[in-house]
Amino acid sequence: MPELQVGEHRFSVAPGSNLLDALNRNGVSVPYSCRAGSCHACLVHCLRGEVSDRRPDALSAAQREQGWRLACQCEVVDDVQVAVFDPLLDGSPAVVEAADWLSPSVLRLRLAPERPLRYRAGQHLVLWAGSVARPYSLASLPLEDRFLEFHLDCRLPGAFSDAARRLEVGDSIRLGELRGGALHYDPDWCARPLWLLAAGTGLGPLFGVLREALRQGHQGPIRVIHLAHDASEHYLAKPLAALAVNHPNLTIELLTAAELTAALAQLRLVSRQTLALLCGHPDRVDAFARRLYLAGLPRNQLLADVFLPRG
Ligand SMILES: Cc1cc2nc3c(=O)[nH]c(=O)nc-3n(C[C@H](O)[C@H](O)[C@H](O)COP(=O)(O)OP(=O)(O)OC[C@H]3O[C@@H](n4cnc5c(N)ncnc54)[C@H](O)[C@@H]3O)c2cc1C
Ligand code: FES
Repeated sequence: MPELQVGEHRFSVAPGSNLLDALNRNGVSVPYSCRAGSCHACLVHCLRGEVSDRRPDALSAAQREQGWRLACQCEVVDDVQVAVFDPLLDGSPAVVEAADWLSPSVLRLRLAPERPLRYRAGQHLVLWAGSVARPYSLASLPLEDRFLEFHLDCRLPGAFSDAARRLEVGDSIRLGELRGGALHYDPDWCARPLWLLAAGTGLGPLFGVLREALRQGHQGPIRVIHLAHDASEHYLAKPLAALAVNHPNLTIELLTAAELTAALAQLRLVSRQTLALLCGHPDRVDAFARRLYLAGLPRNQLLADVFLPRG
């Protein structure tokens, strides 16, 4: 049986064991969220030996070279020594600058990073509160905002949401790996219709993309649709309306869950040049995407990031 070593601890594990499960089962706490190779909450450092990796493409060549692996995607096939991601050593520090409720369930967290973070609108990173790590998307803009902003859905209980509700100004938090998903703004899209379809806090990264598009002088029509459980959860209604006042090419539609089916049935493409960016819960993103394909949107013009719940 292969031997798995972490620090001074050694365990024998069944060949082919999932590395994440093997570590957690043996008392080495490794956080995880998606279990799909997308969030990177489960990073471990491979110090000796090699594991069988189902998704080597999920990490950059440089990260793989340095020995980083996603535990959820790896199987133990041989003796191996790993070190878990230590947020104090491997992450970077930030301080809570503001924690405000934008709606009954959406918490806006503004963090001041100790070191400047280079990112683009729409990216996400892993936030660490103590030993709990979860992926969250940036709602801020690198050139405009001196803080990092996140919109956290705290409607349901959850390890990170519970910790986030208790955060106060001045508290420390660690930032894990910065990741790029599908969401971004490309200046080449300047004249094309741009649709930003968000469910819940999926609006956070799309708000960043929207502001980036406007900052870069997007000329084509921009349509923002925000789907929320109910009207009280249209948490950016005011700032969106304020942007629309100054940008005649921007239209905002606020939908509640009860209105979704009827609204989707009426969704028509005005131009085959339309680009659609989608974000939020997988079921909602799927519903938007299916309707857009039916309406004739070419697949390569749809970019989506899904907020995979914890696997
Ligand atoms: C790339 C990416 C970016 C993301 N960006 C954002 C973002 O910007 N904003 C955002 O709000 N979310 C975002 N998410 C989703 C977020 O990371 C997950 O929802 C995360 O699991 C929340 O962590 P948690 O610790 O609060 O909940 P978890 O503890 O991870 O629980 C996950 C879900 O299970 C439920 N649950 C937990 N324990 C129990 C129990 N005992 N019984 C029943 N149900 C339970 C919780 O209510 C919760 O809904 C993103 C996800 C990904 C993959
Ligand atoms: S990448 Fe492994 S848990 Fe998300």
